[in-house]
Amino acid sequence: MDSEHILLKRIENKATITISNPGKLNALTHDIMREFSQVLKEVSKDSRIRVVILTGQGDRAFVAGADISKIEKMTTVQILHELPEMQDIVRQLECLPQPTIARVNGIALGGGTELTLACDLRIASENAVFGLPEVKLGIIPGYGGTQRLPRIIGIAKAKELLFTGDQVSADEALRMGLVNQVVPYDQLDAIVDDFSAKLLALPPLSLRFLKEAVNFGMQMDLESAIRMESRLFANCFGSEDRVEGVRAFLEKRKAQLKGS
Ligand code: COA
Repeated sequence: MDSEHILLKRIENKATITISNPGKLNALTHDIMREFSQVLKEVSKDSRIRVVILTGQGDRAFVAGADISKIEKMTTVQILHELPEMQDIVRQLECLPQPTIARVNGIALGGGTELTLACDLRIASENAVFGLPEVKLGIIPGYGGTQRLPRIIGIAKAKELLFTGDQVSADEALRMGLVNQVVPYDQLDAIVDDFSAKLLALPPLSLRFLKEAVNFGMQMDLESAIRMESRLFANCFGSEDRVEGVRAFLEKRKAQLKGS
């Protein structure tokens, strides 16, 4: 399905979702987020898709945040009504069963940074900038940034970014552990493709359960999380890819994975 602002392209087992709001550096409106939600629903149900790339249209911006012109007109009552829905959509991204890679092709501010935080991996081009400038507008991040950023980069650096609203370059983001890799813009697609290919060569069920183990485990006490790990381990054990993976190792040959 293609919608006006959210483009979905599937090539074999890889899906690329592109956010497009030309003229506004791909800024997000509630309607765009709702279109995004529909596309996420479609992607989550499609068992052919085994890796998902999220990016922005063009070579300047990933997403420059929420559309500030819309924020201006909103009332507190509207915010209280609509923000939880938007937060659920970001959570929908975070909970996709497939591994997700944010292909950060430029400016990723506010909601842009927050969308990348809900992806599993972040690969940024050298021209990318990150930041949560909401404090400068008299608000705070509302797409989960106050919660996911400290979980990913630690409380001290997260508070620095949140309290100052400062932008950081891709290289600074790399030093903070906010991104996995920084690459020249002209190599971004090749590196994202390499990374995707690496994931596509691995058993999808293992990746799915790994994602669940980390995402849910980070919200639990250690004892419960480790118990959860053993249940997810057992889920992998029942898979055909586990039988084939172990047998192929013992027979010193390449495993023929089926994804089941
Ligand atoms: N909402 C709405 N429009 C936005 C936008 C946003 N978050 N970010 C950029 N735009 C629009 C600009 O208004 C401008 O439109 P115009 O050409 O009609 O004037 C266009 O996108 C290009 O942006 P511009 O500001 O001219 O580019 P720049 O290179 O000078 O600056 C930014 C780029 C990203 C630093 C600057 O646009 C910016 O600070 N944007 C807001 C980021 C933000 O605070 N996001 C969090 C929102 S909660």
